[in-house]
Amino acid sequence: MRGQFYVIGVGPGDPELMTLKAARLLDQCPVWFAPKAHQEGESTALAILAGAVATAGKEILELHFPMKKVRMGLPPDPEVEAAWRLAAEAIRAKLDQGLDVAFPTLGDPAIYSTGFYVCDTLLKYAPQALISVVPGVSSIGASAAAVGQPLCLGDDRLVVIPATFENGRLRETLAQFDTVVLMKVHRVMDKVVSLLSELDLLDKAVLVERSSHAQERVRRDLAVAAREELHYFSTVIVRK
Ligand SMILES: C[S@@+](CC[C@H](N)C(=O)[O-])C[C@H]1O[C@@H](n2cnc3c(N)ncnc32)[C@H](O)[C@@H]1O
Repeated sequence: MRGQFYVIGVGPGDPELMTLKAARLLDQCPVWFAPKAHQEGESTALAILAGAVATAGKEILELHFPMKKVRMGLPPDPEVEAAWRLAAEAIRAKLDQGLDVAFPTLGDPAIYSTGFYVCDTLLKYAPQALISVVPGVSSIGASAAAVGQPLCLGDDRLVVIPATFENGRLRETLAQFDTVVLMKVHRVMDKVVSLLSELDLLDKAVLVERSSHAQERVRRDLAVAAREELHYFSTVIVRK
């Protein structure tokens, strides 16, 4: 195996928020594996990077990763695990041909990204694989920038949590920390709004939809937003 595998964060949406390193490595890799959440849909990472890097001449292979909860410490859903395995096998085949492979991923790869599951699976089959992770601008930073507020200052404690988990865990987190970033909120805004009201935190919360995209919206009317169809790229920041 001679090729190198690069997991590359492409930022939250605005191609100008891609790093120079991300652009250079994508340009350098002849093969790209682009993740997508829906079989028929497009890869968001690919859509973002296409605004900054030429796609012509690249071998671009799209990989479908079903959107299902992964709980750390528990075995993954078999469908999800199968998708990781298929991805790792396909990537390994290219690396074995001596080709460098890029795996562009939304935002930063260290934050709820499929990239690391794929790396772990690849390493199971090919422990000698050469892997590099290229950080990207996370939607967390982009969302705070859209609001124009810091996430934490001084001795503030910041926590990031997927809003899709149980109410008990969310309630405890909201009560305990100074700033709470709730990701994956788009389908559970009703629950988030009730919890925030219960804890008297509704006026401390802001919803950012599609930060850094042309359609970016910063909203404080969370109760109204909860009755609407929200974009998957929606994040709530609660800063006490
Ligand atoms: C699977 S996580 C990926 C996070 C990504 N790795 C990052 O660093 O931003 C997807 C969640 O990120 C958030 N997200 C991604 N892009 C966003 C954007 N442009 N604006 C607001 N939230 C975004 C949403 O909460 C979405 O449900």
